[in-house]
Amino acid sequence: MQSGIVSAPSTFRVGGVQYVAFQTGKGGAFPLVAGVAGGATRKVPNLPRLVVLKIGGTVKFPAPPATTTLAWNPPAKIGTPEQIAAGKAHFGRYCQVCHGDSAIGNGFTPDLRVSATLTNADAWKSVILDGALKDRGMVSFARVLTPQDAEAIRAYVIERSNWTKANLSDTAAPMGR
Ligand code: HEC
Repeated sequence: MQSGIVSAPSTFRVGGVQYVAFQTGKGGAFPLVAGVAGGATRKVPNLPRLVVLKIGGTVKFPAPPATTTLAWNPPAKIGTPEQIAAGKAHFGRYCQVCHGDSAIGNGFTPDLRVSATLTNADAWKSVILDGALKDRGMVSFARVLTPQDAEAIRAYVIERSNWTKANLSDTAAPMGR
């Protein structure tokens, strides 16, 4: 099916022909939030489809879409250990729900460890505090985070990015890790 199967199947008969229908994709909150436990490193593509199979059917799937490889060039580490720890706590409270446990990309939202905004404090703040991407589902967190908090989160994600590069060999993976 080229992706995960996320719904229970249903089956029905039309004009004497039986069909089996189900949905594919990564789907649900778990893969979004759960990092490695949610299958982030398994490289299952998110292909949201309603698949209907027909008994005796002969149509084949189109070729799966190509995956892109992300360049892995973490910026130099910033922040004190205390700032990184504070950033980790803020990340767990406000960001993990969409950007994954330990900032491990999930294939739905950008993998922050390879985000170009990581290298630029102003670009980072414009997204997190000024809502630069609010029309695309990334709202401003200015109500709950100060500029210092946002910078602490950036320090934490930079630390995660460097850790990944240093400790895992397959860092050119299209998503996950
Ligand atoms: C409700 C879900 C959600 C939450 C919570 C969330 N984000 Fe996002 N974030 C998104 C989505 C969706 C995008 C992609 C927007 C787009 O398509 O440009 C995004 C994009 C970003 C980007 C831009 C990445 C890039 O390279 O384009 C950054 C940086 C970012 N988020 C940081 C954070 C931080 C830090 C937090 C916690 C304070 C956070 N996000 C919380 C959904 C979320």
